[in-house]
Amino acid sequence: MCALSTASGMLSAMRRKSSAVTPSNVRRMAVAPPRPDTSDEEEMILDVVRQLVKERVEPRAAAIDADGDFPWDIKRLFAENDLLGIPFPAEYGGVGGSFVTYVKVVEEVSKACASSALIIAVQELGALPILIGGTDEQKRRWIPDLASGAKIAAYALTEPGSGSDAAGSMRTKARRDGDDYVLDGTKIWITQGSVADVVTVFAVNDPTKGANGISAFVVEKGTPGFSVGKLEKKMGIRGSPTVELSFENCRVPAANRLGDEGEGFKIAMKVLDKSRPGIAAQALGIAQGALDYATEYTKQRVAFGKPISQQQGLQFMLADMKTEIEAARLLLYEAARKCDESAPDMTTWAAMAKLKCGDVAMSVTTDAVQLLGGYGYSTEYPVERMMRDAKITQIYEGTQQIQRIVIARAMVGKWSPPKS
Ligand code: CAA
Repeated sequence: MCALSTASGMLSAMRRKSSAVTPSNVRRMAVAPPRPDTSDEEEMILDVVRQLVKERVEPRAAAIDADGDFPWDIKRLFAENDLLGIPFPAEYGGVGGSFVTYVKVVEEVSKACASSALIIAVQELGALPILIGGTDEQKRRWIPDLASGAKIAAYALTEPGSGSDAAGSMRTKARRDGDDYVLDGTKIWITQGSVADVVTVFAVNDPTKGANGISAFVVEKGTPGFSVGKLEKKMGIRGSPTVELSFENCRVPAANRLGDEGEGFKIAMKVLDKSRPGIAAQALGIAQGALDYATEYTKQRVAFGKPISQQQGLQFMLADMKTEIEAARLLLYEAARKCDESAPDMTTWAAMAKLKCGDVAMSVTTDAVQLLGGYGYSTEYPVERMMRDAKITQIYEGTQQIQRIVIARAMVGKWSPPKS
């Protein structure tokens, strides 16, 4: 049963609970009032999320970053409140919410803790290959446990020599052997790879066919030959484990292949069309969280006999930060709306949203550190963490340079040398 869709009792109980627990000496700004473009159902979900973030996520954010461990308590919290399956269809145990609602949820959580928000975003990323490429039977087999949070998902595309050039340089192989495929190879930078129960792995089944020789497989935790390797030490999103995954003579039933043989790369790309807005939402939330904090700080900090918020130079910075955030937000919500409609230009909009929101996150968080001066550089204040967390949104799920390639190709096409 989905609490978000049915439990108005839970919602009102949550509303009765005591309000903010604020650990730092600068109070955060109140959460923004409902936007006029939100539906009642969406606003109900966002109300729950804001309350959870204020009471349970924000107080944990600094420790999650400092400890660098996966926050199982936050994952449980999200699962109990049905935040992990928001855009998944109700017939497979999901909430059946829209992509617009989903990105707003990721944005709300990211205002306080980017690592926690990634639990929701990567659950979607890891489940999407099954939702996009899976049969009804495969969806019934894996999606309900991912929607409820009973199991965790991951998406394994990247390899040591294959990042941006995901198809051309892929080396992980899938050899058909009777009713099975045998996987051999290494994936790296796999978000949640060490805690995942269900991993979608992309592998080359026919090296002569380029992108059309790649297939997608669901590999379950505990499959012989599948192991977790090195845990990366990272600048940001430190509560989200990023690991190497190895496949050695790893036998996977053919029933675990998603889509036809050779359809894997297209599935991988279609997934990114729908997951990049989630990363854009993470970026936007980080930027909004940093701006909220910095704005309040400038109102309290006094220099030259008045709050620094009254210095025109800093007002210009605040105004630019807000304008950039609002522009990015409009782009993101439109991209999410296009995902809801599976619009033909969804790929371009997803890339534009990721590009804009990632860049805004980096510039706004850098300015937020500047506005706090020396305090901004201290780990006692959250903005340096937000700046570190922002950086990855310009890198993963396709670098900003890849987003530009995707956008430009939709405008001018991909050139191929003439056949002689
Ligand atoms: N939807 C459907 N099909 C698509 C598609 C899409 N969005 N994009 C490409 N395709 C199809 C093409 O039409 C083509 O099909 P045909 O051969 O039938 O014509 C095929 O896929 C190959 O496409 P391209 O020729 O465009 O492929 P390419 O090798 O030039 O690469 C690319 C295109 C955009 C650069 C792509 O490789 C890419 O997006 N790279 C970045 C990879 C990436 O984002 N990695 C992130 C990993 S996940 C992650 O980071 C998660 C995390 O940690 C949280």
